[in-house]
Amino acid sequence: MDVIDMLKEEHRAMAKLLKAFERQLDVLARAEHPDYDVIDGVLQYCRDFPDRYHHPKEDLLLERLLMRQPEASEKIGDLYKEHEELAELTNRLVHGFDSLLNEAEISREGIVALGRDFLQHYWDHMRKEEEVFLPLAREVLSESDLRQVDSKIESSPDPLFGPEVDARFDSLREHILAWDREDREATG
Ligand SMILES: [Fe+2]
Ligand SMILES: [Fe+2]
Repeated sequence: MDVIDMLKEEHRAMAKLLKAFERQLDVLARAEHPDYDVIDGVLQYCRDFPDRYHHPKEDLLLERLLMRQPEASEKIGDLYKEHEELAELTNRLVHGFDSLLNEAEISREGIVALGRDFLQHYWDHMRKEEEVFLPLAREVLSESDLRQVDSKIESSPDPLFGPEVDARFDSLREHILAWDREDREATG
């Protein structure tokens, strides 16, 4: 498995996570009680894994791609900046939920809007990577390029979808597995 395969696998996992978050946001939008353990797990995970390991891997891959094909930036845009924005949106959301739980100055509508904004950015970003960035990297980079990138990445096992689940994410993982089963049953 090379770095491109690894990134794709992480996107699939991330998609499940975003859906889990979306469900909780829908609950909150209906003025019902969401599962704050799940919400907290999603946000913690985003800070622990995508922001710390997934995005830096992509940054290295992009650096190599732009070395080989500088004009690729026109098609891909500024992924570095998008990664910074995603980290910022995650932080804003963490603070937003803190305020909500402490009954501070944020409204339910305000936090739902923040959450939808976060989701939209993540989905758009991942779609672009899957449809433009990763296929182009696959086309342009040689095996030796990919090995070079691989040798530079700082790896860490995924704390939620990896072989060992961090205890902080137990409840989130159980929810995701249960929803996966429901989805499969619903689609037959
Ligand atoms: Fe990314
Ligand atoms: Fe990504």
